[in-house]
Amino acid sequence: MCSSIATKYWCVKPPRPHVALAVYAHAVTSDPARISVTAKVSAYYRKFSDIAFAAEVATLIGADEAFAEIVREHALEPDKLTFYAPMFEARYKSITQLIGECGATQVLELASGYSLRGLDLTQTGSLHYVETDLRDVVATKLDLLEDVRRWHNIAPRPLHAVTAADVLDLGQLQSAAAGFDRGRPLVILCEGLVGYLTREETGCLTRNVHSLLSEFTCGWWIVPDFAFKTEIRNLPPERIRLREAITGVTQRQLDASAFEDGDDLAAFLHRVGFDMQVCSQVDKTTSFSTIAALNLSPAVIERMRPVLRVWLMTLVPRL
Ligand SMILES: C[S@@+](CC[C@H](N)C(=O)[O-])C[C@H]1O[C@@H](n2cnc3c(N)ncnc32)[C@H](O)[C@@H]1O
Repeated sequence: MCSSIATKYWCVKPPRPHVALAVYAHAVTSDPARISVTAKVSAYYRKFSDIAFAAEVATLIGADEAFAEIVREHALEPDKLTFYAPMFEARYKSITQLIGECGATQVLELASGYSLRGLDLTQTGSLHYVETDLRDVVATKLDLLEDVRRWHNIAPRPLHAVTAADVLDLGQLQSAAAGFDRGRPLVILCEGLVGYLTREETGCLTRNVHSLLSEFTCGWWIVPDFAFKTEIRNLPPERIRLREAITGVTQRQLDASAFEDGDDLAAFLHRVGFDMQVCSQVDKTTSFSTIAALNLSPAVIERMRPVLRVWLMTLVPRL
């Protein structure tokens, strides 16, 4: 059953890059749909974790095959990349933890890819969860959700919706958020998106999120992946090679919108109207299942601790 379903989900495979990697030395703005394949890379690494539904999602969308193709075409050494599994685990779990700490009853997840946090968090309680991504990913995700629900005998819930929305289009975000109660706080989150955007696009996203949150009594914006130029310059060689491969597939220079440092980021956010606080993803991750699953040393987590951050933004209060 799984292999035929996996074949079905290959419909969102991106076109092969046909330009040499060297061409991407500068920031490029390709069709955002090219970024969508990276959702399979996150799903691939999450399958090693105990995150709800992660293993079956990876099987159903053919994450192994998508990852194997990137490895083959870019001569990567996957054994040297296993540390990505705890990175993706920390990113996912720390965001889920922060959603709980905010105490909001409404969540809008942008660029949700094949993550099933929405399904997981709406199994109990009365959380209203709307997730969005680009049209083709949403079409695939709706099939995926149907299969996972059938597999686990889970009924659809009216408070969990999946809808298409381009984060660069405020009107589309407002439509996606139309069903939320403006009198209650809203959490907006985007995981794994900002790294693929140019600075202009990051500015547009930030302004759109600010406009939308301004419609609500209060709210938060959670982002785990702002980047700093100094840290990108010091990445280990195997990370650089995977990033080059992802650039080849997406035709996007990763972290093109990187900030000089935390002060530069804070100033950028403040200009748009956000206050920010930064937390450690590691501290917000209650347990790391991928360490035992992949026989990794717990020292891996401590080595990555300084760069694994998650930012929590709130609107600057109006005077
Ligand atoms: C690295 S994936 C992350 C997916 C998911 N959040 C996760 O952690 O697995 C990036 C996602 O951003 C989506 N994306 C890229 N550009 C977008 C845009 N302009 N509007 C909405 N989604 C976008 C892609 O389709 C893809 O699903």
